[in-house]
Amino acid sequence: MSLTSFRTGESRPTAQTPAKVTIPGLLDKKLLHQLISALTAYDYASARLVDEAGLDVILVGDSLAMVMQGYENTLSITMDEMLLYTRGVRRAVRRALLVADMPFASYITEQDALTNASRFLKEAGAEAVKLEGGLTRSPIIRRLVDAEIPVMGHIGLTPQAVHRMGGYKVQGKTTDAAERLRADALALEDAGCFSIVLEGVPRELARLITADLSIPTIGIGAGPDCDGQILVLHDLLSLTFAPPAKFVRRYADLGSVIREALTHYKRDVEARIFPSDAESYHLSSEARAFLSEPNAVSA
Ligand code: KIV
Repeated sequence: MSLTSFRTGESRPTAQTPAKVTIPGLLDKKLLHQLISALTAYDYASARLVDEAGLDVILVGDSLAMVMQGYENTLSITMDEMLLYTRGVRRAVRRALLVADMPFASYITEQDALTNASRFLKEAGAEAVKLEGGLTRSPIIRRLVDAEIPVMGHIGLTPQAVHRMGGYKVQGKTTDAAERLRADALALEDAGCFSIVLEGVPRELARLITADLSIPTIGIGAGPDCDGQILVLHDLLSLTFAPPAKFVRRYADLGSVIREALTHYKRDVEARIFPSDAESYHLSSEARAFLSEPNAVSA
């Protein structure tokens, strides 16, 4: 499928489209020991590809601050920017559950959280929101869930706490820290989260937390024993510029593919190889005759 067909709104496959992913469906997956596949997406074109590949969950992550906007961390992204990206993704996604990330400082008070989370559902068509933090976020999460706003939790390495953590470091490595994370996970389940992202925690701890909970855990840098996995799409496709974290598997090298295509295009333009005659529009033979011999037609 060419990019042009995205622009022209070409019809989409429907005959075998699998059922819409729902929150109860994700909870069933945990019960049935079926793994949950999740990825980020931030724009219409990539979200269509992710959705059509059959991923269960698409997260419009605040990682877009770094991946799409080139910021050093995720703190600068605003609610309005997150809404803009989420709307583009919404227009692409038919099947996956669409989750939007609450940006830094958008859920400090319960009222902020309610106002901002509702905007994701009302103005951008998200089906759930994700927010970072453990036990201390419980009252806010309860409030959102009471207002029918489904919440995905996120504990362990929480990038919005980069300054407190002193960098992007694996969390829960000591017995005390591990116990605190287990308590955080239970508190989030108790507050009503429908799933929890476990980021940057030792595999053994992720396994324990996964066994403690009846809601699914979705791991990133948390080993293979979670109920599902999530990655940043641009990491998976090699569209990021920093060396990848240990847990990233590069499934394709799109960076190299794109670089090669762009160099080829530049070469062709400079050598007048692009565009060819077949890639050009043409006048009718009458118009051509008129323009080359205008007097012949008007005489
Ligand atoms: O912002 C993000 O992309 C995330 C995922 C990596 C879990 O929070």
